[in-house]
Amino acid sequence: MYIKSIKLSNFRNYINQKIEFDKNINIFYGNNAQGKTNILEAIYMCAIGKSYRASKDKEVINISKEFSEIELDYSKKDRDGKIKIDLNDKKQISLNDIRAKKMSEILGNINIVLFSPDDINVFKDGPSKRRRILDVMISQLRPAYLYNLNMYQKTLEQRNNYLKQIKYENKKEELLEIWEEKLADYAEIINEYRKEFVEKIKEKIVNIHKKITKDKEEIRIEYISDFKDKEQFIKILKQNRRIDIIRGYTGNGIHRDDLKLYIDDKDIEIYGSQGQHRSAILSIKLSELEIIKDETEENPILLLDDFMSELDKIRRENFLEEVEDTQIIITCTDKLELKNENKKIFFVENRKSKRRKKHLIFY
Ligand SMILES: Nc1ncnc2c1ncn2[C@@H]1O[C@H](COP(=O)(O)OP(=O)(O)O)[C@@H](O)[C@H]1O
Ligand SMILES: [Mg+2]
Repeated sequence: MYIKSIKLSNFRNYINQKIEFDKNINIFYGNNAQGKTNILEAIYMCAIGKSYRASKDKEVINISKEFSEIELDYSKKDRDGKIKIDLNDKKQISLNDIRAKKMSEILGNINIVLFSPDDINVFKDGPSKRRRILDVMISQLRPAYLYNLNMYQKTLEQRNNYLKQIKYENKKEELLEIWEEKLADYAEIINEYRKEFVEKIKEKIVNIHKKITKDKEEIRIEYISDFKDKEQFIKILKQNRRIDIIRGYTGNGIHRDDLKLYIDDKDIEIYGSQGQHRSAILSIKLSELEIIKDETEENPILLLDDFMSELDKIRRENFLEEVEDTQIIITCTDKLELKNENKKIFFVENRKSKRRKKHLIFY
């Protein structure tokens, strides 16, 4: 699959911009803060339905405008399609000019794998980023997953609010049961999906990592969860009610799940070198790519945000060989020297003229 073009209206620093992509490699280069990552963000939103770096949808609307629109045209083996996102006070999605009833309908139309500079620290920072890797991958392939995850989050908030009401307003503790039952229902579904996909990663990652490290390192990934089965989980919640009431939030559940990664049986979080972190995340993402490929019989689109600068020239070319026949959209600050012939190079500059800001993309 590949993206043919994207049209941005009032999106971040783009007022009115159409970009036509190459089927293979696209390089967006330019100084910092010119709008390179904004392009990847818009594509990501068309795949996942929301941004990976804005906490609120509204943030992506140009600061001096009231609304924003993204229109993306893509091509797949069997069909072409169009995704449109309208943002003002609320978000509206259209697929092939038909309004979607549910946000989740956006998922799976195009599939992406994103490498962002932040990913390098995924095994150094807290577990939330690691959960997000799973969440984004699974949501794209199993839209029901995101629904259950959202319902779990909502129920969790309700339980947490009620915990506070017990503490401050002397509400009855027994009523917690209602939310605990519901939490366990959603947790069971989410846990099943996560187990399934960590298994899929396990099947892929060992060989991929061997290839990347030229047989030097052995990688192992593990899924850590409080959840074993429904009864056990309800029991844990019940047992921890007192402490949950004191702290005002739920201390156990799939919102605490984690991934552990070992290189040669050593926990990367504690013992990993910078280079190991880099190649580990590369292996995870390439596994994700393979999994999406297996499931959809299409190559997902690779979004590489500043990532190529993390790799030296040789690793860069090895990497690009590894992902042939894939549309790749790269941002970087220097014009990348690549030997691949099928590529389109864009220079991105946010030029300020006297009267108004003007955005320029040359290629
Ligand atoms: N809502 C917004 N309205 C207008 N400009 C924005 C908005 N959000 C971000 N920007 C501008 O976008 C630029 C950053 O874009 P980004 O794509 O992250 O840059 P880079 O080229 O470094 O990847 C900055 O100049 C920032 O001021
Ligand atoms: Mg950037």
